[in-house]
Amino acid sequence: MKLAVIGCGYVGLVSGSCLAEAGHDVVATDNDASRIAALQAGKIPIYEPNLDKVLDTVVREGRLRFTSDCAQAVRGADVVFICVGTPPSETGEADLSAIDNVARLIAKESRSPKLIIEKSTVPAQTGEQLKRALHVYANNAGASFRVASNPEFLREGTAVEDFFHPDRIVIGVEDKETEQQLRELYRPILEGHFRCPVHQPNCPPAATPDFVVTTIASAELIKHASNSFLGLKISYANVLADLCERLGGNVDEVTRAVGLDPRIGGQFLKAGLGFGGFCLPKDIQAFIKLADRAGVDFGLLKETERVNKQRVDQLLEKVKKALWVMKNKQIGVLGIAFKPNTDDIRLAPAIEVIRRLLAEGAVVRATDPEAMERARAVFPGLCYSADPYEVARGADALLLLTEWEQFRRLDWKRIRSEMARALIIDARNMLRPAEMKALGFEYLSFGRPDPAGAAASNTSN
Ligand code: UGA
Repeated sequence: MKLAVIGCGYVGLVSGSCLAEAGHDVVATDNDASRIAALQAGKIPIYEPNLDKVLDTVVREGRLRFTSDCAQAVRGADVVFICVGTPPSETGEADLSAIDNVARLIAKESRSPKLIIEKSTVPAQTGEQLKRALHVYANNAGASFRVASNPEFLREGTAVEDFFHPDRIVIGVEDKETEQQLRELYRPILEGHFRCPVHQPNCPPAATPDFVVTTIASAELIKHASNSFLGLKISYANVLADLCERLGGNVDEVTRAVGLDPRIGGQFLKAGLGFGGFCLPKDIQAFIKLADRAGVDFGLLKETERVNKQRVDQLLEKVKKALWVMKNKQIGVLGIAFKPNTDDIRLAPAIEVIRRLLAEGAVVRATDPEAMERARAVFPGLCYSADPYEVARGADALLLLTEWEQFRRLDWKRIRSEMARALIIDARNMLRPAEMKALGFEYLSFGRPDPAGAAASNTSN
């Protein structure tokens, strides 16, 4: 099929490349001309594991092309994917102006029937508005539009695998023809005999994903409902961690056993610094606003958000309690990205932590395997090092804020010998308390008892 992908951010780049890999003819476009120029020159503007491999192949074989001429991309396509940003507006609602602009452009430039697919995360009823806008602005004979919603469930860091091995493909449609067209589009993935380019010899065979056909409004709701539920689970685990600290339990033990119930499931119950990134926090906020506007008080999600925002406070309380005066204390930060395997720092809890440490007068030195360049744009004056041992050198405390696998494998004995005070505050519950204690660290984390067993609260020193 001939596809146009409008918007070359995370969603557009991954979807466009993977759809090309699945055999379609894709033209990707973006209104940021410098981004397109970089992509044409073979530079990928984001860090996403395996994306380079896929892009390399599909660009070389001519199945994916980049153009800054959005009109041309639209005119040549049968199916247009809208993958533009829907950032939060000042009120917390999704700002849909980019979708509106794209709708007008598609309407104006189209000269033949097209299927327009919303892939950006949008509030329910955007499909209706999109249909209306396409109809109102259409000005060429021969142009007609069908609209569908096809939300993505890609996680940053594993987006390529997620695309080829989804657990479900959700499409919101209004007619059988659109359903058939989308079934055909995803056939290589649905039939499961497609060989994913990131496939390892020891990968288990991919399960056939569910193909879920719904109304457009349901598909839009499914996306917000999924991300919000994930956030809800994380906040639940974080409150459990607080409770464990007060009552002497171990949140790892509690969430593990709770998650063994298949009705609950063990994923997204990891307690720590809370959720960040540009999806969960903004989608929850937008869902709350959407519900409010519809006259439904989604108090459950308001509480999820409140608990999440408090995680940074909780961490700073631990730091302050341990260090007493923050001014001029040297603090090493391990991890800036909102989660491992990405360079994304948008709404990353670590950014807020660093901001607050600096405001208290602490001297911060930070490292991250991928996110330092982006962090430099936020904190240009901060001291960065690619070497975690250098970050530890002379530090009064080391904060582990993103659970990169590299950090687990550090020579912690050496880290201890570099530090002025051997204090680790592990905000992601990544390391083992007993091991760290045995190495001679004062070790604090969330909701896990002091390995000495002397105190119920692991915040005590
Ligand atoms: C999320 C969803 O997981 C994807 O399904 C969805 O497609 C995507 O948003 C989107 O809307 O585009 P992502 O933002 O990449 O994906 O990040 P997640 O893997 O969901 O992690 C979000 C945050 O939760 C991270 O800060 C992570 O550290 C935190 N987290 C995750 C926890 O604190 N505890 C956990 O147990 C799991």
